[in-house]
Amino acid sequence: MGSGDPIISLRGVSRVFRAARGDVVALSEMDLDVYEGEFVTVVGPSGCGKSTVLNIIVGLLEPSSGQILFRGQVSSGINKEIGYVTQADNLFPWRTVLENVVFGLQMRGVGSKSEREEKARKLITQVGLDGFENHYRHELSGGMRQRVNIIRTLAYDPKVILLDEPFGPLDAQTRLQLQAQLLDLWRQRAGTTLIFITHELNEAIALGDRVVVMSARPGRVREVVPVDLPRPRDIYTINTDPNFRAIYDRVWEHLAEEMRQTTE
Ligand SMILES: Nc1ncnc2c1ncn2[C@@H]1O[C@H](COP(=O)(O)OP(=O)(O)O)[C@@H](O)[C@H]1O
Ligand SMILES: [Mg+2]
Repeated sequence: MGSGDPIISLRGVSRVFRAARGDVVALSEMDLDVYEGEFVTVVGPSGCGKSTVLNIIVGLLEPSSGQILFRGQVSSGINKEIGYVTQADNLFPWRTVLENVVFGLQMRGVGSKSEREEKARKLITQVGLDGFENHYRHELSGGMRQRVNIIRTLAYDPKVILLDEPFGPLDAQTRLQLQAQLLDLWRQRAGTTLIFITHELNEAIALGDRVVVMSARPGRVREVVPVDLPRPRDIYTINTDPNFRAIYDRVWEHLAEEMRQTTE
């Protein structure tokens, strides 16, 4: 659970997209504090601005108004302390699994060649990909690709990791396995902050310390629901915890209300 000062703050963040057919207000006056070490999950109706928020936090997009603070300082431009895992795995098809994981470390000048390889191999083992080090993207299942995508970002130990529906296209069982692995990896990295977007409420609750429910577009925070479930969590049984249902109902009540207002 997070504590202390926020590592990321959104202060009145708005974003307008100018388009020939008229302006789209994607976000309007969004405020949010995310604390160091927290696992925050975000749900909201399709098109409400979830991906836009992550793009603004990492610095790929500028807010039209409002500010992003990183450790209390106004942040602009790409923030190198933030890792970004998107739904598309973006693995280099001409590099092996090992080379893909090593690449990020190389780009950031982490360690020697042998240290980078050792770090990459350790992570590959941790997500059960032993024996696949020398495989290429086309030789991997969707779940394997997404495992590589995640450890590739974790490898260089960013302070904050943004994940945009990373398990979206996976089948239900693979999804649970990846959720369990993500929780393990996060637990081993004390102080790492995760902001995880999903449209799956069970996933949002099973993983998160808090679930942020966004409003229909223009997006802002409608409700933040604390997830008072003990950790470490067993992803396979957490939904049988007596509190789980009540939390689910509360998140759903807010989300359903916003979905009613979504025309997309
Ligand atoms: N680059 C862009 N140009 C124009 N409109 C955009 C752009 N990116 C997103 N939008 C619009 O902004 C809104 C929010 O998009 P997005 O953040 O992708 O939503 P979500 O991730 O919640 O589904 C949508 O209406 C989308 O069409
Ligand atoms: Mg999106």
